[in-house]
Amino acid sequence: MKPLFPANFEDLERSGIGKIAVQGLGMEGVYPLWFGEGSEPTPAIIRDAAVAALDAGETFYNNPRGRPDLRAALKIYNDDLYKIDLHPDRIHVPASTMLAVTIAAQMVIRPGDHAVIVTPHWPNVEIALKWTGADIGYYRQHSADGKWALDIDGLMAACNSRTKMIYLNSPCNPTGYVMERPEQERLLDFCRDRGVILLSDEVYHRSVYDRNHAPSFLEFAGDDDPLIVVNGFSKAWAMTGWRIGWMVTPRGYEEQMAVMCEVYNTGAPSFVQLGAIAALQKGEGALNGLRQGYAESLAVANAILGNHARIDHTAPEGAFYAFPRIRGIDNGLAFAEGLLFGAKVGVAPGYTFGPGNETHLRLCFAMKADKLEKALRAFTAYLDAH
Ligand SMILES: Cc1ncc(COP(=O)(O)O)c(C=O)c1O
Repeated sequence: MKPLFPANFEDLERSGIGKIAVQGLGMEGVYPLWFGEGSEPTPAIIRDAAVAALDAGETFYNNPRGRPDLRAALKIYNDDLYKIDLHPDRIHVPASTMLAVTIAAQMVIRPGDHAVIVTPHWPNVEIALKWTGADIGYYRQHSADGKWALDIDGLMAACNSRTKMIYLNSPCNPTGYVMERPEQERLLDFCRDRGVILLSDEVYHRSVYDRNHAPSFLEFAGDDDPLIVVNGFSKAWAMTGWRIGWMVTPRGYEEQMAVMCEVYNTGAPSFVQLGAIAALQKGEGALNGLRQGYAESLAVANAILGNHARIDHTAPEGAFYAFPRIRGIDNGLAFAEGLLFGAKVGVAPGYTFGPGNETHLRLCFAMKADKLEKALRAFTAYLDAH
């Protein structure tokens, strides 16, 4: 039999986050800092809305591009948050943010095209982009003056005449880098000039601790700019298991987006979408409560990781991860395995977040501060002993 998958699939491998997690899931007393989620379930106000929707019989097919009431609520949410007037035709709800990334990649990239990923980056995105047959370039953030930073000139120089897409995630998983408005403007100008589509992943848009939201390209981009924004409910409203997000494209793509949504999922579950509406309309208090908890945990992470001789820790500005470099190791995966079995602390190995990160680890700090402190003390004790 001929192989089922095309040759380029051979280059794809599962994310390294799972390599540690599958070994530690179910382990008694383990501190799970591996996945990108908190330890609290979705707020009751959102769960209750979905339960009520199920009880009311919301179990049928719906509009594949998203329920009109959810899309209307998303317009109001984005308009209010960013002080804009988003054209309703630009908003689509394929299902999860991850699916929105996959759809965006498949809309734009053809085999042999070039796409640049701003790295360190979430590994699933790289797989989605590679799957199109794209030739992937990476451009790395760096640490400067105690913050993660991105050299926009270097990013532009990493593009070539075949570059069709730049993927940028701000606030960033795993570094917590947040791109400010002047850099955003320069980058979008470059994309306009060069006809490059900017895929802006803003799923951590509310995971910032010194302001209400991170800068969004939507705040200044026009309807016809080369911009696709993906966003979702997973992080801000603690809804990772619901698999629901949204996408904002340039104007004029409702029909094509309806086709994509039909073939991928034929719409997100209706009761899930009703939970999402509750998150947008009634979830602000819950969101702020969750965020307050993460801010307390961030302070613990900065205090412990920032004061250890073998840990190069750059304080994150957003998202909910620390991405330190560990001195004196050459293989983060082996170290993470040792840490799991030796100290019951589960972290993600740096190599999976792109080239140049082999001696980094990613630790999700979205855990209650007192428990996080115990986890990080166990981590540093292990480090001291090895
Ligand atoms: C950068 C980034 N983009 C997208 C996603 C996917 O979000 P969702 O759970 O809504 O699919 C994640 C999840 O961890 C992420 O970290």
